[in-house]
Amino acid sequence: MRERPRRLDRLPEQYFAALLARVAAAGPVVDLGRGNPDVGPPPHVAEALDRAARRPDTHGYAPFAGLGALKEAVAARYRDVYGVEIDPETEVAVLPGSKTGLMEFAQTCVEDGDTIVLPDPGYPDYRSAVALADARLETLPLGRDARPDWDAAPARAAALYLNYPSNPLAACVPDGVFEEAIAWAHASGGWVMHDFAYGDLVFDGRRPQSFLAVEGAREIGFELFSMSKTYGMAGWRLGFAVGNAEITRRIEDLQNHQFAGIFMPVQEAGVAALTGPQDSVEARRATYERRRDRAVAALEGCEPRSEGTFFVWFKLPEGLTCEQLLAEHRVAVAPGEGFGERGRGWARLSLATPDDRLDEGLERLRRVVAAG
Ligand SMILES: Cc1ncc(COP(=O)(O)O)c(C=O)c1O
Repeated sequence: MRERPRRLDRLPEQYFAALLARVAAAGPVVDLGRGNPDVGPPPHVAEALDRAARRPDTHGYAPFAGLGALKEAVAARYRDVYGVEIDPETEVAVLPGSKTGLMEFAQTCVEDGDTIVLPDPGYPDYRSAVALADARLETLPLGRDARPDWDAAPARAAALYLNYPSNPLAACVPDGVFEEAIAWAHASGGWVMHDFAYGDLVFDGRRPQSFLAVEGAREIGFELFSMSKTYGMAGWRLGFAVGNAEITRRIEDLQNHQFAGIFMPVQEAGVAALTGPQDSVEARRATYERRRDRAVAALEGCEPRSEGTFFVWFKLPEGLTCEQLLAEHRVAVAPGEGFGERGRGWARLSLATPDDRLDEGLERLRRVVAAG
């Protein structure tokens, strides 16, 4: 038999699959490692799915580029919530989850051997996109407030990944960073992708901040918007690439070869989520904020931080590792070094955990921190 293609061997270990396996092998633990929404979408969304699935005309191949009504619903959200005018026909691509878009950005904008710049710390799956595109990886160091050190960015590159609110730093975009990214794009010749997966999960009265609201953003890049966190629809696999029309066209071209549309009832339910009552979005955001407050209190002394997302980023007490937390204290958190070298010594705790489990996990952490 022929050997595995090198492309597969270039892929890094899938951080979250490996973490899940380690947690499962540890036996009964409180799992605060995984960011998987614990509350689903409101009933009218499931009802829309059900209604559509009962119609005979929804079971064939969906239009490859997605339903026009869904693109219009995304454009309406961008207008009403983020203050951005989008042309639904040319500036929205429908994706089977925004994770797909992370890979498609590199596939559509980068040649073999080109440089891709990733934030450090940053979401581990970006590195998979670099590997699959056979690109060179350079990092953009982020400070404690998630502000990039632009002086450390390469002068020339094909693509930059940005993500605010940041996973894992749980920080919202610092003032001026989007403008600086646009300037970097013009100077370096690279495209910019802003990962807006946690866009609506912001705390303490902050407003969601879309990259596309900044003058000049859509000329050099685009944004990934996801149904997973805003609407608790992670398992439904529905997301969007929004912004630059040329990239939208390239992504749709690539998808015409890779996929054959998304199940129409899922898309119709997506329209219902985006255009129906929005009170569940605020309720979900407020739930995470309340949990954030409890987690920050429990982790006093560990420099806990969370301005948004459903994570808290905190410093591990001297001499304590996530492996010890798992094996000895029966609580799983995500080790910071998995998000990049600059994450070493830190850890990410997930608030997407039912209240009783979260409180049990926080109590265990509080005891360890107090004893240390
Ligand atoms: C930073 C970040 N980007 C993208 C994704 C992928 O989201 P989706 O469910 O839309 O594929 C995630 C999922 O956890 C994420 O944390």
